[in-house]
Amino acid sequence: MALSFAKDIRPLFREEDVDCMSSYGVLLDDPAWMRVPANAQSVYGAVSNGSMPPGSPWPEEQVKTFKRWMDEGLAA
Ligand code: HEM
Repeated sequence: MALSFAKDIRPLFREEDVDCMSSYGVLLDDPAWMRVPANAQSVYGAVSNGSMPPGSPWPEEQVKTFKRWMDEGLAA
């Protein structure tokens, strides 16, 4: 079953992630923004190199889930 933003990706972001990053124009809770390939790639870059979220890098499983969602075409 293909991954979807609403069911599988949105729940990966904490409220503090959404709140902190919205002031930088990084709209983690907005499917329209997140489904733009360049935006998804910038988020993937930050979580895969462990720079984001600051001080609490994602477990590998979560990074893989995000990558799979990208590879499957960024479904809503
Ligand atoms: C999963 C959670 C998060 C993701 C995916 C994320 C993603 C990103 C991305 C993609 C950027 C680069 C933005 C750009 O250059 O245009 C960024 C920058 C930044 N983020 Fe996050 N972020 C997350 C959580 C947080 C949290 C919780 C905070 C605050 C405590 C935070 C603080 C910052 C700051 C201060 C920058 C600017 C860094 C700089 O320009 O050097 N982020 N983040």
